[in-house]
Amino acid sequence: KKEIGVGLLGMGTVGRGVYRILTDNRAGIEEKVGVPIKIKKILVRDPAKDRGLALSEGLLTTNVNELLDDPEIDIIVEVLGGVDQALEYALSALGKGKSLVTANKDMIALHGKKLFAAADANSRDLFFEASVAGGIPIITPLKECLAANRITQLIGIINGTTNYMLSRMSKEGLGFQEALCEAQSLGYAEADPSSDVEGYDAARKLTILASIAFNTRLRLDQVFVEGITRVTAEDIAYAANLNYTVKLLAIARESSDGIEARVHPALLPKNHPLAAVNDVYNAIFVTGDAVGDVMFFGRGAGELPTASAVAADVMSAARNLVNNVPGMIGCTCFEEKRVKPMGL
Ligand code: NAP
Ligand code: HSE
Repeated sequence: KKEIGVGLLGMGTVGRGVYRILTDNRAGIEEKVGVPIKIKKILVRDPAKDRGLALSEGLLTTNVNELLDDPEIDIIVEVLGGVDQALEYALSALGKGKSLVTANKDMIALHGKKLFAAADANSRDLFFEASVAGGIPIITPLKECLAANRITQLIGIINGTTNYMLSRMSKEGLGFQEALCEAQSLGYAEADPSSDVEGYDAARKLTILASIAFNTRLRLDQVFVEGITRVTAEDIAYAANLNYTVKLLAIARESSDGIEARVHPALLPKNHPLAAVNDVYNAIFVTGDAVGDVMFFGRGAGELPTASAVAADVMSAARNLVNNVPGMIGCTCFEEKRVKPMGL
């Protein structure tokens, strides 16, 4: 292949970042992949919207078939959000022999098994590093670097919006709504921010991480979920007086009687390493029987951090196409095994 063609589904916060990275870092990316990567078409709802970028004529379209049926497009990047439409396009792209990169945790958490089967059946890649913890490498490390371990526990701050809000409520005494508006204006929140503040975004991400870490399939209905909607600036100030900080934690553990998974606000002593993870930063502690404790830390949401993970996945998929080995790294997770009923 002389060039890898990319079709972008979506040009919002993440899509814009992917466009900027693949364009601004084009030379270095080509050097690492071996051939140029070119964005051929971008699907949007409203082509007239100002995107703050100098886009070439005809790059934006509202017709998805211009991407899915283009033989020069090798990789589809799904950064639309939502589930049903995204799933339909993702399955169609894989069915048409295109590799797929997505940042969509809702779609992976709900339909990962179906998507992996489609990728396998068509010998194409399906990469989703950006779906959990934005710019932090965590999916690939769990799947590959830590694969030899028996993982016993994951503890994470994996929702940037709520961590940003709790930090602002703590540092500036902001009210819940004011803090949420700030997080929305920075592009951290989901289109429907109730999934952030009610803990479901973190729970979906936890199902993805735990499924990979424990080589099983954890469903959303097996996770205990409580968000931060009842946490007030007064609660946070009261906790601070007692030397605690309030964090929304996502926890998954495997013991001899199965796996338990939960998301809820927790009081952390101020000297706990996770207590120092503020603003849009995320962190995940992983404990493995061989490696011991490992902590991953970085920006969990936002345009360029998230796009950093998406663009790296595009490069991996491109390299596999160049070397004629797409779909070779299978994923054995998402087969249901042993999840403990939550006795909370
Ligand atoms: P967003 O800002 O709302 O952007 C969505 C984009 O998709 C927009 O360009 C929109 O077009 C387009 N779109 C949506 N539905 C469409 C449809 N039916 N047909 C055509 N175009 C459609 O969303 P985002 O924040 O970039 O998030 C995208 C995905 O990344 C989501 O799955 C999200 O969960 C995930 N994610 C986001 C972040 C983050 O920090 N934002 C981090 C990690 C993962 P218009 O622009 O014309 O409206
Ligand atoms: N809304 C999500 C968050 C985006 O705040 O973490 C990143 O997945």
